[in-house]
Amino acid sequence: MSEKYMMSLDQGTTGSRCIIFDKGGNVISSAIKEYMQIYPKAGYVEHNPSDILASQLGVISEALALGSIKSGDIKGIGIANQRETTIVWNKHSGRPVYNAIVWQCRRTSDYCNKLNKEGFADMIYNKTGLVVDAYFSATKLKWILDNIDGARKSAEQGELLFGTVDTFILWHLSGRREHATDYTNASRTMLFNIHTLEWDEDLLKLFNIPKEMLPTVKASGSHFGYTDESTFGAKVPIAAMMGDQQSALFGQFCLKEGDIKNTYGTGCFMLMNTGKKAVCSKNGLVTTLVASLDEKPCYALEGSVFIGGAVVQWLRDNLRMFRSSSESEKYAALVKDTNGVYFVPAFVGLGSPYWDSEAKGIITGITRGVSKEHFIRAALESIAYQTNDVLQAMEEDYQTKIKELSVDGGASENDFLMQFQSDISNITINRPKISEVTAFGASYLAGLVTSYWKDIDELKANLISFQKFHPKIKQNARKTLLDGWSEAIRKARL
Ligand code: G3P
Repeated sequence: MSEKYMMSLDQGTTGSRCIIFDKGGNVISSAIKEYMQIYPKAGYVEHNPSDILASQLGVISEALALGSIKSGDIKGIGIANQRETTIVWNKHSGRPVYNAIVWQCRRTSDYCNKLNKEGFADMIYNKTGLVVDAYFSATKLKWILDNIDGARKSAEQGELLFGTVDTFILWHLSGRREHATDYTNASRTMLFNIHTLEWDEDLLKLFNIPKEMLPTVKASGSHFGYTDESTFGAKVPIAAMMGDQQSALFGQFCLKEGDIKNTYGTGCFMLMNTGKKAVCSKNGLVTTLVASLDEKPCYALEGSVFIGGAVVQWLRDNLRMFRSSSESEKYAALVKDTNGVYFVPAFVGLGSPYWDSEAKGIITGITRGVSKEHFIRAALESIAYQTNDVLQAMEEDYQTKIKELSVDGGASENDFLMQFQSDISNITINRPKISEVTAFGASYLAGLVTSYWKDIDELKANLISFQKFHPKIKQNARKTLLDGWSEAIRKARL
């Protein structure tokens, strides 16, 4: 009998990835494909659902071929996905009624402001753990039903299905049989009660969403169904689904209360496991559910920064400052500081802890001596400053000084950024030697469900070793830098 493997699908905001792991947790094969970002007008962000699907199916075939692995040799599949992004499709034809509205899209900001003004914020927070913001799925789904011809009527007649990206991929991979999601993805919709673990009738009424179009919700590590042979080439269990940030939390083994990680992806997402207690934030964080096998999952506090690594992409693609994102590190290291420049990349407003949809990106402190290198350095530093704002909110909410932070995600490979993070936050940074942590989480859970791995201890035996970054600057230097950042944030919010 040939060896069996686990497959992880990591469907992110800018690319779809497939990674195949063996029992030792080694990456046997992987493939990634970027796909098109659609910006129909200022503040709007969309994806074509066909691009999401085609790129995801494409990388599955590629990873199998590169590893000379047959689809029948896959023991189980785990899916980790960009969260909140909203898709509505016809359950007979499979045709989406509109493009996917991406988590970054601000089109429903005015409606969210109205809800806040009308006093719905507390009720929504108490049920969902979320602040009222265009980031989450509920208002995106409502927008589709209200604005696309015939959509509401078809939804009421039971013809349409709603899903976040996990649900959309599952539906297609399972040959259109399974319409389900997991607790973590449901907890980002603003329609799900994170205390009762059910779709919330009051919220469905408030947003006018027909319940029939919502997926069944299961624990993140569950039997979600089997792949369809004609799509995948074999009947393989889809045994885990979860939001990518919760997947990274699991992949970092942040399984007990107080464990914390920050992922530097398109945005930056810091999650702290708070155990069975849903901690209420007074400092602009949200409360969300953690991925597990458990029917009663743990809670996490989360700080979501909307533009993290995306600022580097912006310098690369829009300003053409370098060809490859990794060059940003080289440029930043050529200068000793930013020469007084601060860059607040509030391209889609600001998320945690400010939740300011009106904020706009700004660059301050430009003088005659400022060069491209200073500019690039300021962009990288902005990722660390925003992360630090979230970290401080976390410390205040949790009433504890956080001394160590586990990190992952593409931009965590940037040594300059990690050292600056450590300096500015006065914290030890733990960076795993293997960066595929998001994909690990999903395949670990799928591997536990399918008994590929016996238990967490067996998984931990594969545990990744860390590289550490320790703070190197003095407190007064830190304070001067942070004061400058606070002033820049103030200007971005004028
Ligand atoms: O909440 C949005 C988040 O899930 C997006 O993650 O990795 O695509 O930036 P990523």
